[in-house]
This record gives sequence, C-alpha cells and structure tokens, in this order.
Amino acid sequence: MRSLLFVPGDSEKKLAKAESARADAFILDLEDAVAPSSKAKAREIVAEYLKSLKARKARFYVRVNALSTGLTDADLDAVVPGRPDGIMLPKSGGGADAIALGAKLAAREAINGLPDGAIRTIPIATETTASIFQMGSYRGASARMEALTWGGEDLSAEVAAETNRLEDGNYTMPYQLARSLTLFAAVASNVTPIDTVFTNFRDEAGLRKEALAARRDGFLGKMVIHPDQIGPVNEIFTPSKESIARAQAIIKAFETGAGVANLNGEMLDMLHVKYAERVLARAKAAGLV
Ligand code: COA
Ligand code: MG
Repeated sequence: MRSLLFVPGDSEKKLAKAESARADAFILDLEDAVAPSSKAKAREIVAEYLKSLKARKARFYVRVNALSTGLTDADLDAVVPGRPDGIMLPKSGGGADAIALGAKLAAREAINGLPDGAIRTIPIATETTASIFQMGSYRGASARMEALTWGGEDLSAEVAAETNRLEDGNYTMPYQLARSLTLFAAVASNVTPIDTVFTNFRDEAGLRKEALAARRDGFLGKMVIHPDQIGPVNEIFTPSKESIARAQAIIKAFETGAGVANLNGEMLDMLHVKYAERVLARAKAAGLV
C-alpha cells in the first residue's frame, strides 16, 4: 500500500471520483472530514457506497469516529455489512484500543456472516499526548492490525503548540518524535508503517520532499488528501529499477552461502540480504519482478 486517499464520507461527488483514482487504498472518512450534523448521513452514504463496489481494484478502509466519541458502534453497525477491507481508528490510545476495536469487529463479522478477522485495522497512533506513552503496546496486541500511521494535527492542537512545522516545512521536534515512534512501533509489530498526510495539496515539491524523507527512513506508504497527490506518492514508494537491480545483485552475491560478500568494493553482510529481500518483496507486490 503506497498511497491511501482520504475521501470525505458525506461527499457523493468525491466518492464517485475515487473510482477512477489510482490510489492503492481509499479511506472513506466518517471522522474529521465530516461535520457533526452530517455524521448520520455520511454513515449511510459510505455503507451504500461499499455495497455498490463491484470488482475492487484497491483496498477500501473506513475511518470511524474515535472510541471516546460514542459514535464508533453505530459507525461499525452501518459499514461492516459492506465488508470494508479495514477500519482506520483515529485517536487510538494504544494496543488496548486496537484490541477493543477488534472485539467490536469480531461481533459484527459474526452477525454479518463474515470470517473472523476478515476486517483489518489501522490505528492512528499519535493523535493524543497520552497515546505517545503507549506506542510499545501495539506489539502483539491484535492480529487484525495491518498498518500503523500517525498524525500531527490533533496532537499539536491538544498541546496548544504555536505550530508543528518549521519555516523550512520540516516538523518540529515533538512531531518528529511522534513520527519516529510510529515507524519503530509498526516495524516492531510487523505491520506496515504509513506516513501521515501532507495537506498543502498544490505544493507537489513539498509533498515529494516529505514522501522521499519518509521512504528514506523506512515508511512504506503515505496517506494523501487529494487525487493529484497519488501519482507522486505511488512513484516514490515503488522500488526504482536501480534499487531492484541492487537488491538482486546483493542476493546473487550471497549465492555461495558465505556470511559476508564484496559488492563492488562494499562489504555486505546478512543485514543487507534482509533489506534486499524486502525490496524484492515490494517490487513483486508492484508486479515489477
Ligand atoms: N477524493 C476524491 N475526489 C477529490 C478529492 C478526494 N479526496 N479531493 C478533490 N477531489 C476532486 C474534487 O471534487 C474535484 O472534482 P471535479 O474536478 O469533478 O470538480 C477535483 O478532485 C479537483 O479538486 P480541487 O478543486 O483541486 O479541490 P477541492 O477544492 O474540490 O477539494 C479538498 C479540496 C481539500 C476539500 C479535498 O481535496 C478533500 O476533501 N480532501 C480530503 C479531505 C479529508 O478527507 N480530510 C480528512 C483527513 S486529513
Ligand atoms: Mg484528526
């Protein structure tokens, strides 16, 4: 999953537009992109939309309202019959919330005749200050968990920060910490680390810079808010020809069974093999090898 496009759940126009967009995944939003007065309507629209999808070329997630709002159960009641691929949980407080969401899903899967565990979960792990202290609790908490992502907007609103970005566009230290913890928590939990949105959707250079930094650090995809952001993000998170060729050369260098190898004057060991295998797995998923 390289790109995940948010689509406001109450916008039939944008939902229709999503059908031609080339995102790997869509996040049908019932939370912050929907005004309180439209929550009930959005639920109905998203439920109908999921049922209307024929051949699914992408994954479809629903972002429900946070567990603290009292709206989550009704959101799930409405959307689970449409069999979303997964549920995105905003303001997740940690592993315990992932487990609680899993239990709610298990009950609704049973009611709707779906296999247990069919619907996966993606917590947004850094939207409250308290959640920062629970990042280690995702590990091993829920087999439904498919990815972890983060957000800096709700977090900076809670601490009443003047800003969460510097003038050069980079995040300030507190939000870099949230980002880093998400990356490590995801990898430690053996799920996909997904970078947060870049909201200035007319600034393609800024988007590219942030997506490249995310890829460099180990994120495997990025959420987006506008169709124009899908192309650059897909491109950046698809393994390049050069990186595939290098990964293949690394695997080849170890064919003899040695523990270390020499690749054009560079020492390689087993860590490089692991890295190369992961690049090739992603290339395979993208149909490139
Ligand atoms: N999903 C589907 N279609 C979208 C879209 C999205 N996220 N964002 C824009 N579009 C459509 C527009 O409806 C428009 O369609 P049209 O050409 O048929 O009129 C087209 O793409 C171009 O959009 P544009 O005019 O550039 O932007 P806009 O002013 O219509 O929308 C936003 C700007 C920010 C309101 C919109 O991108 C959006 O709603 N993004 C998602 C917000 C969200 O879900 N936030 C929550 C998570 S942070
Ligand atoms: Mg939010």
